[in-house]
Amino acid sequence: MAESIIHPVGDPCSVVIFGASGDLTCRKLVPALHTLSCEGLLADETRIIGVARSDLETEDWLNSLEEGVQSYARLNPAFCERWPSFRRRMSYHRGSYDDSVTYTQLASLLQEQDEYSGTSGNRLFYLAVPPQLYPVIVEQLGRAGLNRSTGWVRIVIEKPFGHDLASSTELDEQVHAVFEEEQVLRIDHYLGKETVQNLLMFRFGNAIFEPLWNRNYVDHVQITMSETVGVGHRAGYYDRAGVVRDMLQNHLLQLLTLTAMEPPAAFDARSLRDEKVKVLKAICANPPREGVWGQYRGYLNEPDVTIGSKTPTYIALKVMVDNWRWQGVPFYVRSGKNLAYKTTEITLQFKQPPHLLFPNVGSLAPNRLVLYIQPNEGVHLSFGTKQPGFGMHPQTVNMMYHYGQTYGEQALPDAYERLLLDAMQGDASLFARSDEIQQAWTIVEPLLQGHEPVVYEPGSSGPDEADALLTVDGRNWSPLREDYGGQYVRGEAFSADDE
Ligand code: BG6
Repeated sequence: MAESIIHPVGDPCSVVIFGASGDLTCRKLVPALHTLSCEGLLADETRIIGVARSDLETEDWLNSLEEGVQSYARLNPAFCERWPSFRRRMSYHRGSYDDSVTYTQLASLLQEQDEYSGTSGNRLFYLAVPPQLYPVIVEQLGRAGLNRSTGWVRIVIEKPFGHDLASSTELDEQVHAVFEEEQVLRIDHYLGKETVQNLLMFRFGNAIFEPLWNRNYVDHVQITMSETVGVGHRAGYYDRAGVVRDMLQNHLLQLLTLTAMEPPAAFDARSLRDEKVKVLKAICANPPREGVWGQYRGYLNEPDVTIGSKTPTYIALKVMVDNWRWQGVPFYVRSGKNLAYKTTEITLQFKQPPHLLFPNVGSLAPNRLVLYIQPNEGVHLSFGTKQPGFGMHPQTVNMMYHYGQTYGEQALPDAYERLLLDAMQGDASLFARSDEIQQAWTIVEPLLQGHEPVVYEPGSSGPDEADALLTVDGRNWSPLREDYGGQYVRGEAFSADDE
């Protein structure tokens, strides 16, 4: 068991998970809590109550969770002797979400834990349920007086936070009728990813990058979120959401704001979120109009997809951030399912040198800085060097940093570990604020309707039309590729023997 020297232990508390028999609890939440316990970051007093409608005994519930921890936790029972004691801290409470009895019983359980386990009146409610249940549970918690306590009370809400601007505003009102904004933690698991947080360290912890991070030196930015999976068994949800609600409104815009924002005045939740909101406002000033919507061939045959569905599974957009720093610099963003490779990456392509000194060289490949968010998390910086020998022949080479090589494969915490720990410590920096969500909906709402998706082949790089989005500007997408050591699969980014 590794004791953390970097992060303080989470406050003792009762974690109440609504949706305890669901996938998220089994695959993400309990494995993350168990790993925190293995790392010595979960206070010994902390207790976990699972609430769900399923008719389960605590033992059965725990057995299914044990399988989840075995399969999905970063540190599973084979790596840590804490599982037996961790298991004893969890209990299952069956109840209907709309029945006040569920909440009066829950209140007594919480009271008992405060008295006998030392949870100090601190409560973390986690809504791992379908979104239509959010208002129901929030209202019932308020009626039972569970929105207040002798300690702190916080509520974590999963995406999707609304399905458009109006519904998200309505949900905000319902939540704010019971909880103060400071108590509400809207989760976007991308913000919990180590490499996404590293964007802040990379930009503001180094003196050499930030001076170049603007319209004077950057030609354009690309953000790619490409997935190999299709919609699988989730079409019931996905067919109503589509890529705009599922990825763009949240994960993609979060990556964009962190890439584009100004240095915050301080490293705290308010300052960080203020800066992100400013970026979103700058996009709203000149909302994206140029884009390509796609749907993979075969989507219409997936189980639970409506006949003739126009739901897009791919989007590529040109986004302008209308402010002093980024005037005239396009941010090309794309996300899609059923593509050739799984990769999330942010590329800054720099401008060409102002004068080409070397004769007979043609043109030089532009410098590129690529932040690999996942997989093969790391950073590459490409630059030109002289090929050894006579004459002056350029070759593009890369400086590379990879987490796996430096820290080992198990070193990166899962996003939910980080976010749950922050939630227990009351650090809202990596959670979305109400105004951030509203601005994001304002940007994407015009992109939701009236865009006929073009069909693209599964396993491809997306629709050909997406290439034209950049070629009309004299640019190209970075090729999708398997991994940082693999071969390019499409196009030629730099010289043939690059990397
Ligand atoms: C989720 C989306 O929020 O993020 C999924 O609902 C998507 O459709 C997933 O597959 C991607 O997350 P990650 O961490 O695998 O990139």
